[in-house]
Amino acid sequence: MCGIVGYIGPKSVVPVIIEGLRRLEYRGYDSAGIAVGGSPEHPNKLDLRRAPGKLKNLETVIAASPIDGTYGIGHTRWATHGRPTEENAHPHRDGTGTLVVVHNGIVENYLALKKSLIAKGHTFQSETDTEIIAHVIQDELELHEKMGAPRLDSETWVSTEANESQAVLISNTPDRLPLDEAVRRAVKRLTGAFAIGVLSAHAPDTLVAARMGPPAVIGIGEGEFFLASDVPGILHHTRNIHFLQDGEVAVLTKTGVRITDFENNELPLKIQRIAWDPIQAEKAGYKHFMLKEINEQPRAVRDTTLGRVSLETGEIFLPEMQISQQEFKAATGITIAACGTSWHSGLAGKFMIERLARLPVDVDYASEYRYRDPIPDATNLGLLITQSGETADTIAAQQELIRKGSKTLAICNVVGAAITRAAQGTITTNAGPEIGVASTKAFTAQLTALFVFALYLAQQRGTITPEESLHYVTELSKIPAKLEEVLRTVDAQCCELAKSFSTARDFLFLGRGIHYPIALEGALKLKEISYIHAEGYPAGEMKHGPNALIDETLPVVCIATKDPADPSSVLKYEKTLSNIQEVTARSGRVIAIAVEGDHEITQLVEHTIHIPAAPELLLPILEVVPLQLLAYHIAVRRGCDVDQPRNLAKSVTVE
Ligand code: F6R
Repeated sequence: MCGIVGYIGPKSVVPVIIEGLRRLEYRGYDSAGIAVGGSPEHPNKLDLRRAPGKLKNLETVIAASPIDGTYGIGHTRWATHGRPTEENAHPHRDGTGTLVVVHNGIVENYLALKKSLIAKGHTFQSETDTEIIAHVIQDELELHEKMGAPRLDSETWVSTEANESQAVLISNTPDRLPLDEAVRRAVKRLTGAFAIGVLSAHAPDTLVAARMGPPAVIGIGEGEFFLASDVPGILHHTRNIHFLQDGEVAVLTKTGVRITDFENNELPLKIQRIAWDPIQAEKAGYKHFMLKEINEQPRAVRDTTLGRVSLETGEIFLPEMQISQQEFKAATGITIAACGTSWHSGLAGKFMIERLARLPVDVDYASEYRYRDPIPDATNLGLLITQSGETADTIAAQQELIRKGSKTLAICNVVGAAITRAAQGTITTNAGPEIGVASTKAFTAQLTALFVFALYLAQQRGTITPEESLHYVTELSKIPAKLEEVLRTVDAQCCELAKSFSTARDFLFLGRGIHYPIALEGALKLKEISYIHAEGYPAGEMKHGPNALIDETLPVVCIATKDPADPSSVLKYEKTLSNIQEVTARSGRVIAIAVEGDHEITQLVEHTIHIPAAPELLLPILEVVPLQLLAYHIAVRRGCDVDQPRNLAKSVTVE
């Protein structure tokens, strides 16, 4: 999740773009960059500046080496492919240095494209998938030339290679393939997700944008036009917005905006007037970041699988693992260490890994790990799960694992974070920056990454058939749409339930098997944002003590989902029904989470929230959403600071 801003018009472009990027910095802050054209001294030149780290570093670079112009594109990066360095910062150039691209998203087939372009003589400067896009556009321009269009005067191609201040000279070359057409042809060769902005020194006063997946908006001002990943980037200039749709290309010039599809068919400009104030806009119109992030989960899950699974063969690709198949085969166990919400995803991951890869998994609180004198060895793999990658307790657990001879892997949302640097491979959860202190989209992205990892391990260890793999991968690919359905159908119900339950003093959350960690997560969400005391418990443990708590004032949220095709899931469901009856018999007020079509449970309990059916190991991704929404609506009713709960911090860097 990155931020893009583009501008063309009479204003000085650099302040417009820098200010826009500042307002989009919540989308990423690993590096920033800008490319501008149309300066009065050198109208036929693109200038480029980039810097690692926050936007202020880019401002320092520009202050030391000023640039100006009347059109340009800028980018603030949330790293997915490649470390957060200057080389990997956007904009990226093509091989001639005359064309620049900014990109938000993931190009799934970038390795295959890179291979074929290298065979044609292309060389690459960065580790990113974005650079490939610039080269594919260049390739389209060159293919057009080869097909008989008049050749360019080679004198006009001046590489920026020698000059890192990145000046690009051009001359008019009227017989070139128009930039917008080259972009249309190029994007048809990409698979994955992208919102891009493109400039070429050969197409002055032109900015081309295209979208397939991540958001992009076009702003229509008075004689000026804008591109942005999100409305806040340009809202202070215009409220007239065209939301670029998937499969659309926008061509911005000084005189207007033209919208087409990828086949160059003309499409209407649909201008909407945005009434949000700037703060609302940063939250995309949602009242809180947490609610926005809950609603981003379909995208977060989709992006976490992109490029890692084959829907044709069921194969899993994790090239980032620096552990051999032999080592995966020889492994005797996995130790997962994590904190809080990440620990809950680790607990669910245990069920996935043990079931699919037949490898024993221990799940430790990272804050406890080194105090129990653990005994991992070289055949044990450590797996650290962390949104931030900077949690001090998790770093300490990783150091202990390494000290005792284990290799470590990470599941992390921040490329280049401390834990990923010490790991022998990281699966990045592409959830994008999480602003709300209570973790939501990072959690479902972690569950997704764990499922992908469990399948990968199973394939490496030969504990799964190709047919089973394909089945699971197919079911995984349906999860984003099912999440969208959950978000559509349960929000109003959770809001309604909050009215009845926001004054409760205590809450219980129950689950069995892989659903128990979700019960823990539901309880954590409620306590951290609403300050109501809540406990998660294994459903079958209630009779061993906690049943004594039950009375008519106690809300009990029971996760009672099942996969009818899976006998162990059905057995677990039946046992959970008995536990529910034990609660209702003692006048406890049950809110059940069940799969659609389950009418048996609605007879037993006061409230049922239905979610779509899915295989047992994937149900947690769906069933946590109503728990997040319930916690959210209760906290809002209680007037709590949802995004910044008292006494908590987003990244806990002390032990
Ligand atoms: C709860 C929450 C925390 C974090 C925990 C670990 O909503 O966000 O419990 O999960 O502090 O943080 P990371 O995942 O960054 O290591």
